[in-house]
Amino acid sequence: MQVIILPTPKDVALYAANRVVEVVTKNTNPVLGLATGSTPIALYNELVSRHRAGEFSFQNTKTFNLDEYIGIAESHPQSYRTFMNRHLFDLVDIDLSNTYVPLADSLDPDVLARNAECYESEILWTGGVDLQILGIGVNGHIGFNEPTSSFASRTRIKTLSKSTVEANKRFFAEGEFQPHLAITMGIGTILSSKSIVLMATGKGKAQAVKDMIEGPLTSMCPASVLQQHEKAIVILDEEAASLL
Ligand code: GLP
Repeated sequence: MQVIILPTPKDVALYAANRVVEVVTKNTNPVLGLATGSTPIALYNELVSRHRAGEFSFQNTKTFNLDEYIGIAESHPQSYRTFMNRHLFDLVDIDLSNTYVPLADSLDPDVLARNAECYESEILWTGGVDLQILGIGVNGHIGFNEPTSSFASRTRIKTLSKSTVEANKRFFAEGEFQPHLAITMGIGTILSSKSIVLMATGKGKAQAVKDMIEGPLTSMCPASVLQQHEKAIVILDEEAASLL
């Protein structure tokens, strides 16, 4: 695991954007793993501007998102499919049929489990993810792999922890249904990516960042597993790095 500390969140986004552009331009059929949350928005904004400036195209790129909420429609304003369309896919020349987000638009556990399995197979069939973008939860989760998730886990249904539901409350209106379940790539799935960039910004992430980098390898901090990935880069702003 390589750790890079930069002054501001903007610098973190620029650094991550350079890695994405490199992968997209160097590979004939690039495969990106993408993340949601507030942290990668600056990265997507940067990619959109550089794409619009004619620097590169997403035409041959496939993308796999980490996770999706169960219990809300794909078209719901807070679904991760909507998030990705709004912040990236609708703004660039990517073929929407090459953008994968787990299908979680059902309440039937058998259908959801099958969707999760198919998602895992789709990733394998494409030859795997070249670059996986990650954020980190305040409890050290990656994707929706909450503390105690198995390091060998593959795409599956997960129950969100109380702290994650609390942290994501801000995106839902008062009294609105908020999902407590999700389909997420597993930790094993994430580790299979050829390279990984984890972005963390702000003081709120400082403890999770410390646990990930300086703590023991433990399923109580799922992100600590990145210590074992040969091509994982953690990019931090000074606030997220303040407890190191
Ligand atoms: C959600 C997502 C994660 C993301 C995390 C942190 O739980 N499933 O992939 O890393 O939020 O989000 P934020 O960047 O908004 O802090």
